[in-house]
Amino acid sequence: MEGNMMTTLNLVLMGLPGAGKGTQAQKIVDEFKIPHISTGDIFRAAMKNGTEMGIEAKKYIDQGNLVPDSVTDGIVEERLSEDDTNAGFMLDGYPRNIDQAHALETMTTKLDKSINAVINIHVDPAVLVERLSGRFICKNCGATYHKLYNPPKVEGTCDVCGHHEFYQREDDKPETVKNRIAVNTKLNTPLIDFYNEKKLLYTVNGDQDINDVYKEIQKVLRAI
Ligand code: AP5
Ligand code: MG
Repeated sequence: MEGNMMTTLNLVLMGLPGAGKGTQAQKIVDEFKIPHISTGDIFRAAMKNGTEMGIEAKKYIDQGNLVPDSVTDGIVEERLSEDDTNAGFMLDGYPRNIDQAHALETMTTKLDKSINAVINIHVDPAVLVERLSGRFICKNCGATYHKLYNPPKVEGTCDVCGHHEFYQREDDKPETVKNRIAVNTKLNTPLIDFYNEKKLLYTVNGDQDINDVYKEIQKVLRAI
């Protein structure tokens, strides 16, 4: 690669529920200006709009289970076919099982795009419940906060857009959270092995200050 030309960033961000994928994704987007593709966000938007896909997805999401691959893979392929992903993209929360990882390989090959880094945000599962129960989100722009670890600079006002209304996610109820963590923990290890073997995996310590996590991610992204 010559001079200041940068590799196109085609990233996957993985990590258990509450690991900080969305929080770090926001920072990556601000710095690297690549589209943020969060399957969770896509499902929540569809649920809010009451679309057929949203109604279907809700059955699984409310229980903390995975939406079937047949639905999820199609959504990602459609999104990766859009032109704005040609100059890079960041997947957040996809793939989440080994079949999705294979599906992603098939679609990126077809679309002539290849993943160049998988960033795994590693956090001890013991801290995840507390993170999710303290999370709140701006109703207007979706910016994510935590009542203890990441409150807005001015109480009750979103740092990003200045709005004053926030909500908590339906699936952040303690019972659902437990199942989400259990489901994802089981699926995570084979995925980690898969990307490790492909030499694409970069694990960062997600159990430190949000800005320090980001510094580790920046190091990875500048090295590729
Ligand atoms: P999704 O929306 O992706 O949820 P998730 O994977 O459970 O992850 P979260 O969004 O809850 O956590 P996060 O890692 O983004 O953490 P955040 O940055 O918000 O998926 C939801 C559901 O959709 C799934 O359960 C499934 O049903 C379905 N779905 C989605 N993708 C699918 C797929 N591929 N296949 C099938 N089904 C799918 O941070 C959490 C909190 O911690 C915040 O309050 C934040 O402020 C705080 N925080 C963040 N970092 C730190 C830090 N370093 N220190 C202290 N606090 C921190
Ligand atoms: Mg998220």
